[in-house]
Amino acid sequence: MTPTLHVDPLVSETMPVTSAPPVNQPSTAPGEPVAGPDSPEERVSRHRLPVRIGHWLNAVCLFILIMSGLQIFNAHPALYWGDRSDRDRTLLSIRAAKSDGGQVKGITTILGHPFDTTGVLGYSNNSARAFPAWATVPSAKWLAMGRQWHLFFAWLFVINGLLFATYAFISRHLTEDLLPTGRDLKNISQAVKDHLRLRHPKGDEAKRYNVLQKLAYVSVLFGLAPLIVLTGLTMSPTIDTAFPWLLTIFGGRQAARTIHFIACFSFVGFIIIHVAQVVLTGFFNNIRSMVTGYFVLRHEGVKR
Ligand code: HEM
Repeated sequence: MTPTLHVDPLVSETMPVTSAPPVNQPSTAPGEPVAGPDSPEERVSRHRLPVRIGHWLNAVCLFILIMSGLQIFNAHPALYWGDRSDRDRTLLSIRAAKSDGGQVKGITTILGHPFDTTGVLGYSNNSARAFPAWATVPSAKWLAMGRQWHLFFAWLFVINGLLFATYAFISRHLTEDLLPTGRDLKNISQAVKDHLRLRHPKGDEAKRYNVLQKLAYVSVLFGLAPLIVLTGLTMSPTIDTAFPWLLTIFGGRQAARTIHFIACFSFVGFIIIHVAQVVLTGFFNNIRSMVTGYFVLRHEGVKR
């Protein structure tokens, strides 16, 4: 999910600067000195402004959506399939329970199998609550406020997503940078092996996203994001009245809630792997490229 080289950022600042074909900015910035690929360090323009703004807005929205969503979940910490919330047929439930010795424990039950999750889920910090205070917005139990945060950032997420998708389509960022090519897909097994060995592309290859990055970004942007929005809408009785086919597609309001929850934790999984890759492949260089647009490439074997 990341670019791919290890660059000493302090050294890179003093190196010759060039503009080269970037991940998503094909043109050379006017007036920039060009060092060329025979220079050991090359500064490339990697992310355009709309991508950078959209990315960070998206990251803020997702963090608040996840945390306020967990606040809402805490008001009824159980999941079901279909249309009914039948307490005897939960897929997942998180609750506090008293043990025989009178001790309060947190119990998470998944498909009928109970697990002791005291301290994290069900009972934490002397309080009976499904997700702990540090994971929710607001941290105190406050359903009404959690819903206000959730709905505000959900609309921001939708508007930002639509603007990003339109931009990606019109600017050809989608076709040129994000969609994997046939050649990318042919080399996928090699890319998986390289990733497992923590070997990331270097030099010119690191100028564009690798196939696993592309697949992850495209499935999150055009699969997971629409899924979480549509299942969220399906939980609203007003929207269901206008678009009853949503209930048919997702198999009922409780099923939509369960899929919404699974999509939320898929986002959490994506974020953990995404940030880990950012750290592994040069945290400072990567963050700088998503903030300022510039990314420093090191060409191995080239002497100054
Ligand atoms: C605080 C957490 C995050 C950090 C530090 C972070 C960092 C980055 C960085 C450095 C890049 C550039 C990678 C490259 O140049 O190869 C990137 C790209 C990307 N990130 Fe994140 N990210 C975060 C959260 C998220 C979240 C929550 C999403 C959810 C969808 C996301 C989705 C993406 C996508 C789709 C791209 C590719 C953007 C494009 O070229 O259109 N990121 N991220």
